[in-house]
Amino acid sequence: MKTDIEKIFNFYASGSVIFARKDFLQSSYLPDVLPHRENHIKHLAQILAPSLRLENPSNVFLYGRPGTGKTAVVQYVGSQLQKIAQDKNIPVKFLYVNSGLKKIADTEYRLYAYLCRRMGDFIPDTGIPTSSVFDRMIKALDSKPAVYILALDEIDVLIEKSPNTIYTLSRINSELKNSKLSIIGITNDLSIMSHLDAKTKSSLSEEEIIFSPYNANQIKDILQDRSNISFSPGAINDSVILLCAASAAKNHGDVRRAIELLRISAEIAEREASNKVLRKHVEVAIGKFNTDQIISFVKTLPEHQKNVLKAIIELDKPVVYTREIYNKYIENVSKIGAKGLTMRRVLDILGEFESSGVVGTSVISRGRYGRTKVVELKIGGNIKDDIEQLLVEI
Ligand SMILES: Nc1ncnc2c1ncn2[C@@H]1O[C@H](COP(=O)(O)OP(=O)(O)O)[C@@H](O)[C@H]1O
Ligand SMILES: [Mg+2]
Repeated sequence: MKTDIEKIFNFYASGSVIFARKDFLQSSYLPDVLPHRENHIKHLAQILAPSLRLENPSNVFLYGRPGTGKTAVVQYVGSQLQKIAQDKNIPVKFLYVNSGLKKIADTEYRLYAYLCRRMGDFIPDTGIPTSSVFDRMIKALDSKPAVYILALDEIDVLIEKSPNTIYTLSRINSELKNSKLSIIGITNDLSIMSHLDAKTKSSLSEEEIIFSPYNANQIKDILQDRSNISFSPGAINDSVILLCAASAAKNHGDVRRAIELLRISAEIAEREASNKVLRKHVEVAIGKFNTDQIISFVKTLPEHQKNVLKAIIELDKPVVYTREIYNKYIENVSKIGAKGLTMRRVLDILGEFESSGVVGTSVISRGRYGRTKVVELKIGGNIKDDIEQLLVEI
Protein backbone atom coordinates (compact mmCIF):
# COMPACT_ATOMS: atom_id res chain seq x y z
CA MET A 1 0.00 0.00 0.00
CA LYS A 2 2.67 2.43 1.09
CA THR A 3 4.73 1.78 -2.03
CA ASP A 4 1.67 2.40 -4.22
CA ILE A 5 1.18 5.79 -2.66
CA GLU A 6 4.86 6.53 -2.93
CA LYS A 7 4.73 5.65 -6.60
CA ILE A 8 1.85 8.06 -7.18
CA PHE A 9 3.48 10.88 -5.24
CA ASN A 10 6.86 10.34 -6.86
CA PHE A 11 5.27 10.32 -10.30
CA TYR A 12 3.67 13.70 -9.65
CA ALA A 13 6.67 15.13 -7.77
CA SER A 14 8.97 14.51 -10.70
CA GLY A 15 6.94 16.99 -12.77
CA SER A 16 4.52 16.44 -15.63
CA VAL A 17 5.50 14.63 -18.79
CA ILE A 18 2.24 15.66 -20.43
CA PHE A 19 1.62 19.29 -19.47
CA ALA A 20 4.15 22.00 -20.30
CA ARG A 21 1.99 24.97 -19.22
CA LYS A 22 -1.24 23.70 -17.73
CA ASP A 23 -2.26 27.26 -16.81
CA PHE A 24 -2.59 28.06 -20.52
CA LEU A 25 -5.56 25.69 -20.59
CA GLN A 26 -7.55 27.78 -18.12
CA SER A 27 -10.47 29.59 -19.69
CA SER A 28 -9.18 32.90 -18.31
CA TYR A 29 -6.06 32.60 -20.47
CA LEU A 30 -6.14 35.03 -23.38
CA PRO A 31 -4.22 33.74 -26.42
CA ASP A 32 -2.17 36.11 -28.63
CA VAL A 33 -4.06 35.06 -31.73
CA LEU A 34 -7.71 34.14 -32.07
CA PRO A 35 -8.14 32.06 -35.23
CA HIS A 36 -11.50 32.32 -37.00
CA ARG A 37 -12.43 35.53 -35.24
CA GLU A 38 -10.43 37.89 -37.47
CA ASN A 39 -13.59 39.52 -38.85
CA HIS A 40 -15.17 39.99 -35.45
CA ILE A 41 -11.96 41.56 -34.16
CA LYS A 42 -11.75 43.89 -37.14
CA HIS A 43 -15.41 44.87 -36.88
CA LEU A 44 -15.14 45.67 -33.16
CA ALA A 45 -11.87 47.57 -33.72
CA GLN A 46 -13.54 49.70 -36.40
CA ILE A 47 -16.40 50.54 -34.06
CA LEU A 48 -14.07 51.52 -31.20
CA ALA A 49 -11.37 53.31 -33.23
CA PRO A 50 -13.04 56.79 -33.22
CA SER A 51 -12.30 56.91 -29.47
CA LEU A 52 -8.65 57.55 -30.42
CA ARG A 53 -9.82 60.86 -31.94
CA LEU A 54 -11.79 61.48 -28.75
CA GLU A 55 -15.07 60.85 -30.51
CA ASN A 56 -17.68 58.75 -28.80
CA PRO A 57 -17.89 55.26 -30.37
CA SER A 58 -21.31 53.68 -30.99
CA ASN A 59 -22.59 51.37 -28.32
CA VAL A 60 -22.25 47.79 -29.46
CA PHE A 61 -23.98 44.59 -28.52
CA LEU A 62 -22.28 41.20 -28.86
CA TYR A 63 -24.18 37.99 -28.65
CA GLY A 64 -23.71 34.30 -29.27
CA ARG A 65 -23.79 30.98 -27.44
CA PRO A 66 -21.31 30.18 -24.67
CA GLY A 67 -17.77 29.41 -25.79
CA THR A 68 -17.91 31.31 -29.07
CA GLY A 69 -15.09 33.72 -28.20
CA LYS A 70 -17.07 36.81 -27.14
CA THR A 71 -15.10 37.53 -23.97
CA ALA A 72 -11.79 36.71 -25.65
CA VAL A 73 -12.48 39.05 -28.60
CA VAL A 74 -13.54 41.95 -26.38
CA GLN A 75 -10.55 41.59 -24.07
CA TYR A 76 -8.21 41.27 -27.02
CA VAL A 77 -9.49 44.36 -28.83
CA GLY A 78 -9.79 46.31 -25.56
CA SER A 79 -6.21 45.61 -24.55
CA GLN A 80 -4.85 46.54 -28.00
CA LEU A 81 -6.82 49.78 -27.89
CA GLN A 82 -5.54 50.55 -24.40
CA LYS A 83 -1.96 49.89 -25.49
CA ILE A 84 -2.13 52.30 -28.44
CA ALA A 85 -3.90 54.96 -26.38
CA GLN A 86 -1.17 54.73 -23.73
CA ASP A 87 1.65 54.85 -26.27
CA LYS A 88 0.20 57.92 -27.92
CA ASN A 89 -0.96 59.52 -24.70
CA ILE A 90 -4.61 59.64 -25.73
CA PRO A 91 -7.09 59.65 -22.82
CA VAL A 92 -9.02 56.49 -23.74
CA LYS A 93 -9.85 54.03 -20.98
CA PHE A 94 -11.12 50.51 -21.52
CA LEU A 95 -13.01 49.12 -18.53
CA TYR A 96 -14.05 45.47 -18.46
CA VAL A 97 -16.49 44.11 -15.89
CA ASN A 98 -18.21 40.76 -15.69
CA SER A 99 -21.65 40.96 -14.09
CA GLY A 100 -21.79 37.16 -14.03
CA LEU A 101 -19.19 37.14 -11.26
CA LYS A 102 -21.08 37.32 -7.99
CA LYS A 103 -20.47 40.31 -5.74
CA ILE A 104 -18.39 42.27 -8.22
CA ALA A 105 -20.73 44.04 -10.55
CA ASP A 106 -24.01 42.18 -10.33
CA THR A 107 -26.06 45.01 -8.82
CA GLU A 108 -26.35 48.74 -9.51
CA TYR A 109 -24.49 49.69 -6.32
CA ARG A 110 -21.70 47.19 -6.86
CA LEU A 111 -21.18 48.16 -10.47
CA TYR A 112 -20.91 51.89 -9.71
CA ALA A 113 -18.71 51.23 -6.67
CA TYR A 114 -16.46 48.98 -8.74
CA LEU A 115 -16.09 51.64 -11.45
CA CYS A 116 -15.32 54.30 -8.82
CA ARG A 117 -12.61 52.06 -7.40
CA ARG A 118 -11.14 51.50 -10.85
CA MET A 119 -10.82 55.29 -11.08
CA GLY A 120 -9.25 55.66 -7.66
CA ASP A 121 -12.29 56.60 -5.52
CA PHE A 122 -12.48 53.90 -2.88
CA ILE A 123 -16.11 53.26 -2.08
CA PRO A 124 -16.95 50.60 0.50
CA ASP A 125 -18.98 47.53 -0.46
CA THR A 126 -22.10 48.80 1.30
CA GLY A 127 -23.31 51.69 3.39
CA ILE A 128 -23.69 54.62 0.99
CA PRO A 129 -26.95 55.41 -0.85
CA THR A 130 -26.79 54.24 -4.48
CA SER A 131 -27.59 57.72 -5.75
CA SER A 132 -24.50 59.12 -3.96
CA VAL A 133 -22.33 56.36 -5.40
CA PHE A 134 -23.68 57.29 -8.83
CA ASP A 135 -22.80 60.97 -8.27
CA ARG A 136 -19.29 60.02 -7.17
CA MET A 137 -18.93 57.84 -10.27
CA ILE A 138 -19.96 60.73 -12.53
CA LYS A 139 -17.47 62.97 -10.73
CA ALA A 140 -14.68 60.43 -11.13
CA LEU A 141 -15.44 59.92 -14.83
CA ASP A 142 -15.55 63.68 -15.37
CA SER A 143 -12.48 64.58 -13.32
CA LYS A 144 -10.31 64.52 -16.47
CA PRO A 145 -11.73 64.54 -20.00
CA ALA A 146 -11.57 61.02 -21.43
CA VAL A 147 -13.39 58.54 -23.59
CA TYR A 148 -14.42 55.50 -21.57
CA ILE A 149 -15.34 52.19 -23.11
CA LEU A 150 -17.22 50.07 -20.66
CA ALA A 151 -17.49 46.37 -21.53
CA LEU A 152 -20.32 44.76 -19.57
CA ASP A 153 -19.85 41.02 -19.89
CA GLU A 154 -22.79 38.73 -19.03
CA ILE A 155 -24.94 41.84 -19.09
CA ASP A 156 -28.04 39.60 -18.81
CA VAL A 157 -27.32 39.13 -15.09
CA LEU A 158 -27.35 42.87 -14.56
CA ILE A 159 -30.41 43.42 -16.75
CA GLU A 160 -32.36 40.78 -14.87
CA LYS A 161 -31.42 42.08 -11.42
CA SER A 162 -31.59 45.74 -12.25
CA PRO A 163 -32.84 46.93 -15.66
CA ASN A 164 -32.68 50.43 -14.20
CA THR A 165 -28.86 50.32 -14.23
CA ILE A 166 -28.78 49.75 -17.97
CA TYR A 167 -31.36 52.46 -18.49
CA THR A 168 -29.18 54.91 -16.53
CA LEU A 169 -25.93 53.87 -18.19
CA SER A 170 -27.36 54.14 -21.68
CA ARG A 171 -28.16 57.79 -20.96
CA ILE A 172 -25.03 58.64 -19.00
CA ASN A 173 -23.57 60.93 -21.67
CA SER A 174 -26.17 63.55 -20.86
CA GLU A 175 -24.79 63.63 -17.27
CA LEU A 176 -21.14 63.85 -18.26
CA LYS A 177 -19.66 67.25 -19.07
CA ASN A 178 -16.03 66.49 -19.87
CA SER A 179 -15.95 62.79 -20.66
CA LYS A 180 -17.84 60.31 -22.81
CA LEU A 181 -18.76 56.70 -22.23
CA SER A 182 -19.69 53.93 -24.66
CA ILE A 183 -20.96 50.52 -23.77
CA ILE A 184 -20.08 47.09 -25.10
CA GLY A 185 -22.83 44.70 -23.96
CA ILE A 186 -22.08 40.97 -24.09
CA THR A 187 -24.56 38.14 -23.60
CA ASN A 188 -25.50 34.52 -24.33
CA ASP A 189 -29.11 35.26 -23.61
CA LEU A 190 -30.89 37.40 -26.15
CA SER A 191 -34.33 36.97 -24.63
CA ILE A 192 -33.15 39.22 -21.82
CA MET A 193 -33.53 42.23 -24.12
CA SER A 194 -37.28 41.98 -23.67
CA HIS A 195 -36.75 43.33 -20.12
CA LEU A 196 -35.65 46.66 -21.60
CA ASP A 197 -37.74 49.47 -23.06
CA ALA A 198 -37.44 50.08 -26.80
CA LYS A 199 -35.31 53.20 -26.48
CA THR A 200 -32.73 51.60 -24.17
CA LYS A 201 -32.63 48.54 -26.38
CA SER A 202 -31.91 50.49 -29.53
CA SER A 203 -29.39 52.71 -27.79
CA LEU A 204 -27.47 49.68 -26.53
CA SER A 205 -27.42 47.98 -29.88
CA GLU A 206 -26.50 50.78 -32.24
CA GLU A 207 -24.15 48.15 -33.61
CA GLU A 208 -24.43 44.39 -33.26
CA ILE A 209 -21.92 41.62 -33.70
CA ILE A 210 -23.13 38.04 -33.81
CA PHE A 211 -20.88 35.16 -32.74
CA SER A 212 -22.02 31.98 -34.43
CA PRO A 213 -20.92 28.59 -33.06
CA TYR A 214 -17.57 27.28 -34.25
CA ASN A 215 -17.62 24.21 -36.49
CA ALA A 216 -15.47 21.13 -35.86
CA ASN A 217 -12.68 22.33 -38.17
CA GLN A 218 -12.46 25.73 -36.54
CA ILE A 219 -12.38 24.14 -33.08
CA LYS A 220 -9.63 21.83 -34.28
CA ASP A 221 -7.48 24.83 -35.33
CA ILE A 222 -8.06 26.59 -32.00
CA LEU A 223 -7.23 23.43 -30.05
CA GLN A 224 -4.11 22.84 -32.11
CA ASP A 225 -2.78 26.31 -31.28
CA ARG A 226 -3.65 25.98 -27.62
CA SER A 227 -2.19 22.50 -27.26
CA ASN A 228 1.12 23.54 -28.90
CA ILE A 229 1.80 25.90 -26.02
CA SER A 230 0.20 23.84 -23.23
CA PHE A 231 1.52 20.30 -23.75
CA SER A 232 4.94 18.69 -23.97
CA PRO A 233 5.93 17.74 -27.52
CA GLY A 234 4.42 14.41 -28.51
CA ALA A 235 1.95 14.22 -25.61
CA ILE A 236 -1.04 15.02 -27.82
CA ASN A 237 -1.77 13.70 -31.29
CA ASP A 238 -4.15 14.86 -34.02
CA SER A 239 -6.71 12.16 -33.47
CA VAL A 240 -7.14 13.23 -29.83
CA ILE A 241 -7.66 16.82 -30.93
CA LEU A 242 -10.15 15.76 -33.59
CA LEU A 243 -12.17 13.78 -31.08
CA CYS A 244 -12.37 16.72 -28.64
CA ALA A 245 -13.27 19.08 -31.51
CA ALA A 246 -16.02 16.81 -32.83
CA SER A 247 -17.55 16.42 -29.39
CA ALA A 248 -17.59 20.18 -28.77
CA ALA A 249 -18.94 20.88 -32.25
CA LYS A 250 -21.89 18.64 -31.44
CA ASN A 251 -22.40 20.66 -28.29
CA HIS A 252 -23.21 23.96 -29.97
CA GLY A 253 -19.63 24.72 -31.05
CA ASP A 254 -18.52 25.54 -27.52
CA VAL A 255 -14.74 25.84 -27.67
CA ARG A 256 -14.53 26.23 -23.89
CA ARG A 257 -15.86 22.69 -23.63
CA ALA A 258 -13.28 21.51 -26.17
CA ILE A 259 -10.39 23.00 -24.17
CA GLU A 260 -11.74 21.56 -20.93
CA LEU A 261 -12.15 18.15 -22.53
CA LEU A 262 -8.56 18.22 -23.63
CA ARG A 263 -7.39 19.15 -20.14
CA ILE A 264 -9.54 16.50 -18.42
CA SER A 265 -8.39 13.84 -20.92
CA ALA A 266 -4.78 14.72 -20.13
CA GLU A 267 -5.45 14.53 -16.40
CA ILE A 268 -6.96 11.07 -16.87
CA ALA A 269 -3.91 10.01 -18.88
CA GLU A 270 -1.65 11.33 -16.14
CA ARG A 271 -3.56 9.43 -13.49
CA GLU A 272 -2.92 6.27 -15.48
CA ALA A 273 0.77 7.17 -15.58
CA SER A 274 0.62 7.37 -19.37
CA ASN A 275 3.03 9.79 -21.03
CA LYS A 276 0.64 10.37 -23.94
CA VAL A 277 -3.01 11.32 -24.17
CA LEU A 278 -4.89 8.64 -26.11
CA ARG A 279 -8.37 8.43 -27.64
CA LYS A 280 -9.51 6.19 -24.81
CA HIS A 281 -8.71 8.95 -22.31
CA VAL A 282 -10.83 11.39 -24.30
CA GLU A 283 -13.69 8.90 -24.39
CA VAL A 284 -13.62 8.63 -20.59
CA ALA A 285 -13.50 12.44 -20.35
CA ILE A 286 -16.51 12.80 -22.66
CA GLY A 287 -18.47 10.33 -20.52
CA LYS A 288 -17.54 12.21 -17.36
CA PHE A 289 -18.50 15.49 -18.96
CA ASN A 290 -21.90 14.25 -20.06
CA THR A 291 -22.59 12.76 -16.64
CA ASP A 292 -21.65 15.98 -14.86
CA GLN A 293 -23.81 17.96 -17.25
CA ILE A 294 -26.88 15.79 -16.72
CA ILE A 295 -26.43 15.66 -12.95
CA SER A 296 -26.20 19.42 -12.67
CA PHE A 297 -29.19 19.76 -15.01
CA VAL A 298 -31.26 17.54 -12.71
CA LYS A 299 -30.05 19.28 -9.56
CA THR A 300 -31.21 22.65 -10.78
CA LEU A 301 -34.64 21.52 -11.98
CA PRO A 302 -37.68 23.09 -10.29
CA GLU A 303 -39.82 20.77 -8.12
CA HIS A 304 -42.49 19.87 -10.71
CA GLN A 305 -39.90 19.09 -13.34
CA LYS A 306 -38.13 16.85 -10.85
CA ASN A 307 -41.39 15.04 -10.17
CA VAL A 308 -42.02 14.47 -13.87
CA LEU A 309 -38.53 13.01 -14.28
CA LYS A 310 -39.04 10.89 -11.18
CA ALA A 311 -42.26 9.50 -12.67
CA ILE A 312 -40.44 8.47 -15.87
CA ILE A 313 -37.66 6.76 -13.92
CA GLU A 314 -40.07 4.97 -11.60
CA LEU A 315 -42.10 3.60 -14.51
CA ASP A 316 -38.85 1.89 -15.50
CA LYS A 317 -39.85 0.80 -19.01
CA PRO A 318 -37.96 1.14 -22.30
CA VAL A 319 -40.69 3.42 -23.66
CA VAL A 320 -43.64 4.98 -21.84
CA TYR A 321 -46.82 6.70 -22.96
CA THR A 322 -47.15 10.35 -21.99
CA ARG A 323 -50.48 9.53 -20.33
CA GLU A 324 -48.75 6.96 -18.06
CA ILE A 325 -46.13 9.55 -17.11
CA TYR A 326 -48.83 12.05 -16.32
CA ASN A 327 -50.79 9.62 -14.13
CA LYS A 328 -47.67 8.57 -12.24
CA TYR A 329 -46.66 12.20 -11.79
CA ILE A 330 -50.10 13.11 -10.38
CA GLU A 331 -49.92 10.09 -8.06
CA ASN A 332 -46.52 11.25 -6.74
CA VAL A 333 -47.42 14.86 -6.20
CA SER A 334 -50.70 14.00 -4.51
CA LYS A 335 -48.76 11.81 -2.07
CA ILE A 336 -46.91 14.90 -0.90
CA GLY A 337 -50.13 16.91 -0.87
CA ALA A 338 -49.21 19.14 -3.80
CA LYS A 339 -51.40 20.18 -6.69
CA GLY A 340 -50.34 18.73 -10.04
CA LEU A 341 -49.75 20.72 -13.21
CA THR A 342 -51.99 20.26 -16.23
CA MET A 343 -51.22 17.68 -18.93
CA ARG A 344 -50.38 20.55 -21.27
CA ARG A 345 -47.63 21.84 -18.91
CA VAL A 346 -46.27 18.33 -18.40
CA LEU A 347 -46.00 17.94 -22.18
CA ASP A 348 -44.05 21.21 -22.27
CA ILE A 349 -41.73 19.88 -19.58
CA LEU A 350 -41.15 16.71 -21.61
CA GLY A 351 -40.26 18.97 -24.54
CA GLU A 352 -37.67 20.74 -22.34
CA PHE A 353 -36.23 17.38 -21.28
CA GLU A 354 -35.98 16.37 -24.89
CA SER A 355 -34.02 19.44 -25.90
CA SER A 356 -31.65 18.84 -22.98
CA GLY A 357 -31.03 15.27 -24.17
CA VAL A 358 -32.54 13.62 -21.07
CA VAL A 359 -35.35 11.94 -22.99
CA GLY A 360 -36.22 11.17 -26.58
CA THR A 361 -39.78 11.20 -27.89
CA SER A 362 -41.45 9.65 -30.88
CA VAL A 363 -44.99 9.33 -32.17
CA ILE A 364 -46.36 5.82 -32.68
CA SER A 365 -49.57 4.54 -34.12
CA ARG A 366 -51.86 2.54 -31.85
CA GLY A 367 -54.16 1.25 -34.54
CA ARG A 368 -57.74 2.29 -33.97
CA TYR A 369 -56.71 4.31 -30.88
CA GLY A 370 -54.90 6.74 -33.17
CA ARG A 371 -51.42 8.14 -32.76
CA THR A 372 -49.73 8.81 -29.48
CA LYS A 373 -46.45 10.11 -28.14
CA VAL A 374 -44.01 7.86 -26.33
CA VAL A 375 -41.05 8.84 -24.23
CA GLU A 376 -37.76 7.06 -23.84
CA LEU A 377 -35.28 7.84 -21.09
CA LYS A 378 -31.88 8.66 -22.61
CA ILE A 379 -29.87 8.18 -19.46
CA GLY A 380 -28.86 4.79 -18.26
CA GLY A 381 -26.46 2.75 -16.13
CA ASN A 382 -24.72 4.30 -13.14
CA ILE A 383 -25.91 7.76 -13.91
CA LYS A 384 -29.54 6.65 -13.77
CA ASP A 385 -28.87 5.33 -10.26
CA ASP A 386 -27.26 8.61 -9.24
CA ILE A 387 -30.24 10.54 -10.52
CA GLU A 388 -32.69 8.22 -8.83
CA GLN A 389 -30.83 8.93 -5.61
CA LEU A 390 -31.08 12.67 -6.21
CA LEU A 391 -34.80 12.42 -6.81
CA VAL A 392 -35.55 10.28 -3.75
CA GLU A 393 -35.16 13.29 -1.52
CA ILE A 394 -37.86 15.41 -3.16
N1 LIG B 1 -10.96 32.07 -31.82
C1 LIG B 1 -10.35 31.62 -30.71
N2 LIG B 1 -9.05 31.32 -30.71
C2 LIG B 1 -8.42 30.88 -29.60
N3 LIG B 1 -9.06 30.69 -28.42
C3 LIG B 1 -10.36 30.98 -28.36
C4 LIG B 1 -11.08 31.46 -29.48
N4 LIG B 1 -12.37 31.63 -29.13
C5 LIG B 1 -12.46 31.28 -27.84
N5 LIG B 1 -11.26 30.90 -27.37
C6 LIG B 1 -10.98 30.40 -26.03
O1 LIG B 1 -12.08 29.60 -25.62
C7 LIG B 1 -12.47 29.86 -24.29
C8 LIG B 1 -13.88 30.38 -24.27
O2 LIG B 1 -13.97 31.60 -24.98
P1 LIG B 1 -14.76 32.86 -24.44
O3 LIG B 1 -14.29 34.06 -25.15
O4 LIG B 1 -14.66 32.91 -22.95
O5 LIG B 1 -16.24 32.47 -24.88
P2 LIG B 1 -17.62 33.22 -24.58
O6 LIG B 1 -17.29 34.50 -23.87
O7 LIG B 1 -18.26 33.40 -25.91
O8 LIG B 1 -18.39 32.26 -23.72
C9 LIG B 1 -11.44 30.84 -23.75
O9 LIG B 1 -10.42 30.11 -23.13
C10 LIG B 1 -10.91 31.52 -25.01
O10 LIG B 1 -9.59 31.96 -24.82
MG1 LIG C 1 -17.82 35.04 -21.91
